[in-house]
Amino acid sequence: MRTVVLVSGSGTNLQAMIDALHHGESPVEIAAVGADRPCEGLRRAEAAGIETFVVAPGEHADRAQWNRALEREVAARRPDRVVFAGFMRIVDADFVAAFPGRIVNTHPSLLPSFPGAHAVRDALAHGVKITGATVHEVVPDVDAGPILAQVAVPIGAQDTEESLHERIKTAERQLLVDTLDALGRQRAASPGDARAAVRKAR
Ligand code: GRF
Repeated sequence: MRTVVLVSGSGTNLQAMIDALHHGESPVEIAAVGADRPCEGLRRAEAAGIETFVVAPGEHADRAQWNRALEREVAARRPDRVVFAGFMRIVDADFVAAFPGRIVNTHPSLLPSFPGAHAVRDALAHGVKITGATVHEVVPDVDAGPILAQVAVPIGAQDTEESLHERIKTAERQLLVDTLDALGRQRAASPGDARAAVRKAR
């Protein structure tokens, strides 16, 4: 399963993919890693010998042109899957339509609770006792696509946004790896519905 991963930050989810999937027996092959800015995630890809590219919004006239440039770079790698692994940009509906049913995002909450860029902070502020991570298909509405897999993480009385996010990320990395592995195996066996593939593998 040729996979293009998009990142914006520290890239620990990407690193988990590299460690668990890229060099092993997994059907997941990371064809390239793209970003909207120079970041640690790109450095991790380079260290693993994976091709990288950057499509920075500041170098394009408007959001639509940035989306088209990103779409061209991703499409040039002919991916079976596109993974948003801590990619902190919102893509437009045309980008989603260019890779129908093939984009997966990881999000640090139990969707549909706490969508958006401050999911961990929002969960703490709301006083929920359990949060977690969600891997889902990307649709034009933000953090709204069909859910592929989730993991729950209890919130402790002493948790700060940082401590909670670190614990979520530990669970999230494994969830992402397991889900992509399941998608890759299902694709190798027979193409079909992504959610059924994940259900079967669990
Ligand atoms: C993850 O929790 C992701 O869900 C969120 O930002 C974090 C990215 O972490 N959007 P990393 O860059 O993979 O370390």
